[in-house]
Parts: sequence; C-alpha cells; structure tokens
Amino acid sequence: MVKRMWFGSFMIIALIAVGVWVFFQSPFMQGKSAGEINSSEQGQSILDIQPIEAGSRPTKQFELTAKETDWEIQTGESVNAWTYNGTVPGEALRVQQGDFVQVELHNELEVPVTIHWHGVILPNRMDGVPGVTQDAVEPGESFTYEFIAEDAGTYWYHSHQHSSLQVDKGLYGPLVVEGKGEKPEHDEVFILDEWAVNQDRENWTNMGGMMMGSMQGDGEADTKEMYDTFTVNGKAGDAIDPLRMEEGETARLRFVNAGYQLHRLVFPEGSMEMLAVDAEPVQNSGERNVLEIAPGERIDVLYTKGEEGEIIGETPSVENSQDMQILVLSSDSDGENLQVKAEDAATSKGTSHASKDLLFETVPDVDVSYNMDLSMGMNMGEGMTWQINDRVFPDTPPIQVEKGDIVRVDITNEGRLNHPMHLHGHRFQVEAEDGGAVVKDLINVKPGESYTIYFEADNKGEWLFHCHDNNHADRGMVTIVDYTSVFSPFELNQTNQP
Ligand code: C2O
Ligand code: CU
Repeated sequence: MVKRMWFGSFMIIALIAVGVWVFFQSPFMQGKSAGEINSSEQGQSILDIQPIEAGSRPTKQFELTAKETDWEIQTGESVNAWTYNGTVPGEALRVQQGDFVQVELHNELEVPVTIHWHGVILPNRMDGVPGVTQDAVEPGESFTYEFIAEDAGTYWYHSHQHSSLQVDKGLYGPLVVEGKGEKPEHDEVFILDEWAVNQDRENWTNMGGMMMGSMQGDGEADTKEMYDTFTVNGKAGDAIDPLRMEEGETARLRFVNAGYQLHRLVFPEGSMEMLAVDAEPVQNSGERNVLEIAPGERIDVLYTKGEEGEIIGETPSVENSQDMQILVLSSDSDGENLQVKAEDAATSKGTSHASKDLLFETVPDVDVSYNMDLSMGMNMGEGMTWQINDRVFPDTPPIQVEKGDIVRVDITNEGRLNHPMHLHGHRFQVEAEDGGAVVKDLINVKPGESYTIYFEADNKGEWLFHCHDNNHADRGMVTIVDYTSVFSPFELNQTNQP
C-alpha cells in the first residue's frame, strides 16, 4: 500500500515534469520575439541587400540639422522645440518622381536622433529605425540617407529615435514627391500636431488618468488629456498662415497628421474632393466636407475656394479646435471682421474611399497569416502598456516572411482607444467600405473594429509594424515584419530606442 502510494506520487511528479518540459519546448515558448531579429547572424545582413545608385537619375541633395530651437507656437508664446533646420515642421523637401535623393543628417542635439522616411518604399538600411536598420546618430555625428523617389505623393519624415518624445518635440517635416507633369497652381502642405504647452505631457501615464481616460468613448481619451494646444505647420490659432487664393481657384492641399490624435477637418460644403491617401490616388469619391485623418496618415485633397473668408478647421465641438483653423483669404485681405463657421462633422472609416491602383485584383492566396490582437495591459510599477498579442515590444511575436510571400494580417482592436497601425517598407491592401479596396501603409483601427490586410513581401529587411500613436508604440505596440533570410547587425539598447 505504502509502496503503491509512493509509486503514484512518483508518477504524478514525473508527469508534471514531462508537462513542464513539453511546455518549454512548445512553439509558444520557443517563439521568436520581435526584438531577437539580430540574435542569429544567419543569411544576409540588411546592409548588403541592394545597392543604391543614382545612375543617370537627377540627384537632389539636402542637409538637415537636428537642433534645439525656441519656437514661437502662438503669438507671444514660445516652446522649447527640437527641429530639423530650425523650424517646425522642418525644411520642406520637394523632389520629382524618379529623383535620387540624398539627405545628410547632422545632429547638434544632446541626444541621438535618426530620420525615418514615412511611407517611402526604400532599402531597409535607409529606414531610420535605431537598433533595427541603423545605430542612432549620436550628438555631433552625421549620417547620409539615400533613396530613389519612385512613387509620387505626399510623405513626411520624422525621427524614429525615442519617437514618442522626439516627434512630439518637433522633429518632423514634409516630403513631397511631385508626379511627372503635375503642377497645380496652388500646392500646399499642412502638418497637424498637438502640443502640451501649459501642462506636463507625461502626466497621463499615471493610473488615475488612464482609468479615467479609458472610460470615455471616442478612442482619443488619452491624447485629449495629454495635449492642450493644436498646431498647423507648427503654429496655433491666429499664428497659422492663411491660405492665399482667389474665389474659384483650386488647390492641391496635402494634409499630414504628425500628432497622436485623430483630427476631423471640416471644409465648406461641396468644396473638397479626395485625391490621394497615403500617396495612393483614390477613385473619384465625390464631394465631401469632412476629412478624417489619423495619426501618421497623409491625405491630399482638391479644394475649390468659394466665397471670401472660408475656413478649414477642426470639428468645433472638439476641445482646442479653435487652434486648428486655416483661413482662406484672397491676396489683399487681412481677414478682419470675418464671421467664420465650421460645423460639427460625422465620423468616417479609414476605408471610406477606394484606391485607383490595386495590389491584388481579387482576394489573394496567402503564404503567411498572422493574427494581430491589439489590447491594453498593465505593468506593475510602470502603469499602462499597449500590447500586440498580449506582449509588449520587443517581446511581441514577429511576422515571419520570405521574399515573395503573400501575407495576410487580421487586426482586431478589443481596447478602448484608436490604434493607427503603420507598416514600414510596404503598402498593403484592405477592403473598402462600399466595394473596391484601399491601398495604404497605415490603417486606423478603432475600438471594436477589425481589418484584414494583404501585402506582398517584396522588400527584404526588418520592418517595423506599429501603432503611430507613438505613446502607444513607446509602451509596447510594435512588432516587426522579419524576412527570415536576412538579419540586422544592430541592437536595441539604451542608445537605440525606436
Ligand atoms: Cu511614421 Cu514607424 O513611423
Ligand atoms: Cu495605439
């Protein structure tokens, strides 16, 4: 009897031991994490993937110096900003489709920086992600970025080092690739952003703010708490330069959202049509009066000026909306005594338009499928985290692909905040709301929404896929599209923090 009991316990312990061993050997525990992309130096280094040569192309050269700047954000009020070439946004870069672009970055700040070319399809080692595609550029050092501007459209550039802070501080600027033969009379870029001018931007990350914030329902509770001033091209309210044009004239207006909050700009009824989203031309979508733009997104519209003194501005019911208003004035008007009005706007989906050129005509057969669940987590002592598949970067599971794979990603947001998910180095296709499809590199996934995206793995490297509310990315919501045949020789560490 005693012997039998002894044997029984032995069996139970042995079974538990086997169970534990099996668990640790399981794919769950063996699964690579996104941060381990450099652990096995097998295959080809991302530095050797493809040569970048100007050939007979015209070369456009620029120099961007990252430095500290006292920036007048509104009349009589300055903020301590970090800038590329002394202004917010940084110097506007304009090139022609097909140009060879060369940008020398000099760092005069006391912290390391990089430049990421948001939306540009380029070789991995030019992508500007510290610890993944390069080492962050140390104070006093320089780095030269080179790429071919293959596709026309609106892009932007920003630091990808400690992005949540550095983009907030002003390290961003516009990049326009003009299409062949494209020359509208008026062509302007407007970069939207939010600032914490009279409050401490970090405050919201404490528990009280989070719990309170996550109760409210529009998906923007955290950003609304954190920032108190909106800007257009680095200026708030009256300090924003009016758009100068005459009645009946048309303009291509390129909007970029460099902030972490969704904005809904209201145009005068019937004055606007969408031209492109994320540098992809859209099918004639009819006249609209609302432009909804998520963090990181770019939207080009064709605007026709009606009567004098029109306004393009944030939805009036949004707090601080008066900061984000662009006046449209004729060249001789000073805008005095103008009665301007904007109306409240309805919400729309990121897929409420269809693209002209598709990546796939029909639903493709896929080689790789990945479920991406976006959720909120809690880290004792640190507060809130933002997770992909219950993990925070760099422990999130990567999307492992081989060149040529067709990849499907099912993204679901079960949380209470918006997550504008942006993929580097590729464009993906997602079904449009009323038929057709949209080609983009960023999809805003609102609470309760799911999207299925498809892309072709046609650009070898290690590419970030992350939430472009960089405060969420900073707290975990990042993964990597990892081509298994290449490796990154760089390391995520104290200096290299995307
Ligand atoms: Cu605007 Cu990781 O990018
Ligand atoms: Cu997010």
